[in-house]
Amino acid sequence: MVVLVTGAGGQLGEALQFVAPDYPQMRFVFCNSSELDIANQQNCETIFDQFQPDFCINAAAYTAVDKAESESEKAFLINVTGAKNIAESCKKHRTILLHVSTDFVFDGEKDTPYSEKDATHPTGVYGQTKLDGEKAIQAVFDDYFIIRTSWVYSRFGHNFMKTMIRLGNEKESLSVVNDQIGTPTNAVDLAEALLAIIASGKRDFGIYNFSNEGQCSWYDFAKKIFEINKIEIDLQPIPTTAYPTPAKRPKYSVLDKQKIKSVFGIAIQNWSESLKINTK
Ligand SMILES: NC(=O)c1ccc[n+]([C@@H]2O[C@H](COP(=O)([O-])OP(=O)(O)OC[C@H]3O[C@@H](n4cnc5c(N)ncnc54)[C@H](OP(=O)(O)O)[C@@H]3O)[C@@H](O)[C@H]2O)c1
Repeated sequence: MVVLVTGAGGQLGEALQFVAPDYPQMRFVFCNSSELDIANQQNCETIFDQFQPDFCINAAAYTAVDKAESESEKAFLINVTGAKNIAESCKKHRTILLHVSTDFVFDGEKDTPYSEKDATHPTGVYGQTKLDGEKAIQAVFDDYFIIRTSWVYSRFGHNFMKTMIRLGNEKESLSVVNDQIGTPTNAVDLAEALLAIIASGKRDFGIYNFSNEGQCSWYDFAKKIFEINKIEIDLQPIPTTAYPTPAKRPKYSVLDKQKIKSVFGIAIQNWSESLKINTK
């Protein structure tokens, strides 16, 4: 079974490389952005022709949420045209696609967990391009799993946890927003969920949510990161209005994971438990 991974140099890509040895039945082809540019259809075709993958995990994306507000063409090219290119190659080569999307497809106006059936309404360019990418895939073919996730962190790449640890070692005090509620997702747990979907052999295609269990604010997340890493810092909760960013973020984006748990039997760890063992 050949599994092609795009965006292999990113957080999720690296987490997939980390867990890959636990799946000896799968032969992985990891391509970083210089080996496979998903925005380039010919490049996609060449790689699919060469490796004839049974599955493709599209971990490639434009993920700079704030920068996307001023770089919408680039974000569109990668998140929409790129997703479409990958879907077209998958269709041609009878490859099953696992595409990763985001909680930012929602506006955050709810106060109960978002299910896969809830109406989408992105509040910024990044979320819009991710939603348009989902739709571009759905317009090409049916053999896709779109997995929406949130607040991804890991010891790989750039993420909130690593930023907090760095700032915690540099500063004596820090203010973090406490009125945006969501769920952190350990990239390793996400990687394992994606491979569990492949290993299950099930073909219940469609959209699925995946994050760790529980919910918190960015302030709660930061507090737990400092506690686990034994970093002493004066941490202050602030409202979003005190930390303006170019992109508006959903104020609530907890994802309901019932569907992925019942279809694939995936057991999901609480976010703070997974954070404790994030170096696994
Ligand atoms: N990070 C989060 O908090 C979060 C939350 C929800 C959903 N997600 C989704 O989860 C997925 C994985 O995110 P991540 O955190 O692993 O992101 P990441 O660390 O930013 O990795 C994205 C990777 O995509 C690559 N890439 C960019 N343009 C490309 C192109 N044209 N062709 C091929 N590769 C390209 C990047 O390579 P270069 O660095 O070389 O450009 C990078 O290695 C994405 O779909 C993202 O939208 C992430």
